[in-house]
Amino acid sequence: MNEQVSIPRTSEWTDRDGIVKRIDIPAPIAMLAELTHRCPLACPYCSNPLELEGARGELSTDEWISVFGQAAALGVLHLHLSGGEPAARRDLVELTAAAAKAGLYTNLITSGIGLTEKRIAELSEAGLDHLQLSIQGATPDLADKVGGYKGGYDRKIAVAEWTHAAGIPLTVNAVCHKQNMDQIGDMLDLAVRLGARRIEIATVQFHGWAEKNRKALMPTKEQVLSTNALVDEARKWLEGIIVIDYVPADHHSTYPKACMGGWGRTGLNVTPSGKVLPCHAAESIPSLAFETVRAMPLADIWYDSDAFNAYRGDSWMAELCRSCERKAIDFGGCRCQAMALAGDAAATDPVCVRSPMRQLLVEQAEIDSRAEPPEFVYRGH
Ligand code: SF4
Ligand code: FES
Repeated sequence: MNEQVSIPRTSEWTDRDGIVKRIDIPAPIAMLAELTHRCPLACPYCSNPLELEGARGELSTDEWISVFGQAAALGVLHLHLSGGEPAARRDLVELTAAAAKAGLYTNLITSGIGLTEKRIAELSEAGLDHLQLSIQGATPDLADKVGGYKGGYDRKIAVAEWTHAAGIPLTVNAVCHKQNMDQIGDMLDLAVRLGARRIEIATVQFHGWAEKNRKALMPTKEQVLSTNALVDEARKWLEGIIVIDYVPADHHSTYPKACMGGWGRTGLNVTPSGKVLPCHAAESIPSLAFETVRAMPLADIWYDSDAFNAYRGDSWMAELCRSCERKAIDFGGCRCQAMALAGDAAATDPVCVRSPMRQLLVEQAEIDSRAEPPEFVYRGH
């Protein structure tokens, strides 16, 4: 793995009000490379932007390899190869080998569709360190319905077995919502049966496409409370067998999560065409413009671009957060959620119990959760 120790760099910039800002910026730890937006699945909670990038605009093999080298030189340790479906890239094995050669820890985040036994063996040979496989439910009927892809469940089971056989550590990812939350216990059993070392259960987030499916996806309070209790219990009985990471529903938590570990603090995303974003949903903030690796070195974008500096430090914060003792813990929550729910990316995240918008949010979630689930509006490609 890349062992370069990176010293924080002091950056100076002038904000929109003409005030000079100076801040120590550490190197990023992780980079998410969205190799493509192409994807065979059509999940109703897809987190890709509403405007997808087409195959013709994607970075070439050489361009991605250059980005991986720049990331390693910048101090990035973990590379997440993601999409869309990264297996849709024919050069996936070549890209993985180049990333491993650059000293990056490589993690493939995949639906499994497009992977074969042979390709998984090649990825292992290329140096793939870890594979994260999404599951949409514990039964074929529900899983295929949620993913909008017939036969997907069976393929995933096969991919998990091939991954295990190739000696690649496996994590199972499950987005949970109204229609599959009652299967969480069965999904835990499935992950254990598949030989996963970790399962990530994340409650659906309502920005982007998921917003179109609020009534179909919003879990009820009873579902959230029983899942919280189940996860607490399961962590005890599965200790030493599988690690459970759980992201509970925002509006049933007291405080927001420290999204991305804070804006421009620990990680960055590169889109299929090379735009560099502080988080996967950052393009939902219309006031920001994003630089691309086709025009600017990655390190300059990380340290000096306006988009990354927009929400660093605390001077951008609303007064509620700026004088709050938790601002160094959650950094005011999620900028994209503030944009989606409050119409202002610099607002206190409305899921915070101290936000004046919180009550409204909880009431709307309650209404959506009680609604008879309509048909999914599937992600189109
Ligand atoms: Fe976090 Fe802001 Fe809420 Fe304080 S007021 S807990 S900093 S979101
Ligand atoms: Fe963009 Fe949270 S998703 S800051």
